[in-house]
Amino acid sequence: MNRIKIKNDIFWVGAKDPDRRLFDGLMPLPQGTTYNAYLVKGSEKTALFDTVEPEKVNDLLENLEGIEKLDYLISHHAEQDHSGSIPVVLEKYPEARVVCLQKTKEMLQDLMSVADDRFYVVADGEEISLGNKTVYFMHLPWVHWPETTATYIPEDKVLFSCDFLGSHHSFSSIFAGDNPAVYKGAKEYYVQIMMLYSKMSAKHLDRLNGLDIEYICPSHGSVYDKPRKIIDLYEQWMRGQPENLALIAYASTHGSTQIMAEHLRGALEERGVNVVLKDLLGLPLNELAEVLPDAATIVLGSSVIMAALHPVAFNTAFLLDRLKPKAKFVAVIGSYGWSPAPLKKASDLISSWKAEVVGSVICKGHPGDDAMAELDALADTIVAKHKEAGFFQ
Ligand code: FEO
Repeated sequence: MNRIKIKNDIFWVGAKDPDRRLFDGLMPLPQGTTYNAYLVKGSEKTALFDTVEPEKVNDLLENLEGIEKLDYLISHHAEQDHSGSIPVVLEKYPEARVVCLQKTKEMLQDLMSVADDRFYVVADGEEISLGNKTVYFMHLPWVHWPETTATYIPEDKVLFSCDFLGSHHSFSSIFAGDNPAVYKGAKEYYVQIMMLYSKMSAKHLDRLNGLDIEYICPSHGSVYDKPRKIIDLYEQWMRGQPENLALIAYASTHGSTQIMAEHLRGALEERGVNVVLKDLLGLPLNELAEVLPDAATIVLGSSVIMAALHPVAFNTAFLLDRLKPKAKFVAVIGSYGWSPAPLKKASDLISSWKAEVVGSVICKGHPGDDAMAELDALADTIVAKHKEAGFFQ
């Protein structure tokens, strides 16, 4: 049994999954993840907050050893990594009722078989009592599904934030403290899961800022025992301005595009713009993600291969279009053998992101003096754009 006390009859009872390497078949998990479930024992009622990924249900059941009766199973979110073990828990605890929003109930019933009479539906802003503890429900849509819910126990100042504010890792300590690896992972997690919806969901921070919080218990990763720290980081990631920073992300087949990328880096740095250069070949998505909330400009570099952008650059363009980084400016650079058309059309791939395309430098074969001069001119343009936008320090 691995039941960890947080405070006053509130326990972590989830499951660690240190060996999982991909989430949604897409997001790298270099340090695994956890599926956090919490047991809350009130003076009159006992509640389980969420379950775990079904293949880890035995870990959850072990952590519930000695719990003879569950009154409530609070479901914050229908996604299977938190709800997939609900049927097993309901079978073990026949008196337990699933407490959730109507929308969550509908989504759970789309995903699994749970009888109508096992639900107790609550509304946004409603409370249920566990005796000496109150559970207050807050609908936080689009972090990252439409039904996502958080709950708050005012008597203990504990917030259960669901996927919001989470991180993917399975470190030995459940508490975040000041561990920089937790906050680095939280940033990568935010970008890959939440950033797309940040325009709709940033307002949830105002609701959380109105609460007196001692612990934040998310559904993945660490419990935050210094809650202000992660909330302030989310403020910056969701609502802060980008920095005087250019991300140059490139895929180069024979080195010409790489030479262009490296020249542009030097030109920008000489002009006072900070640069992060990422070779996309073999780069895990999380290592690209960590730059995306900060960069004011993103330069995509690609060779032309198979009469198209390099597939890795193409995939990156698609992901940027979906993730919608904060960057206001975008440029394309690259080298081709006989057809420049794929590079000329590259900015079409990011049209829904609505960044301003500030230039492109496309050269045939090895980049010569003309290409280098064009890259210098592109650097001038990026500097001017950063100054105009107020990003230049
Ligand atoms: Fe961790 Fe959206 O599930």
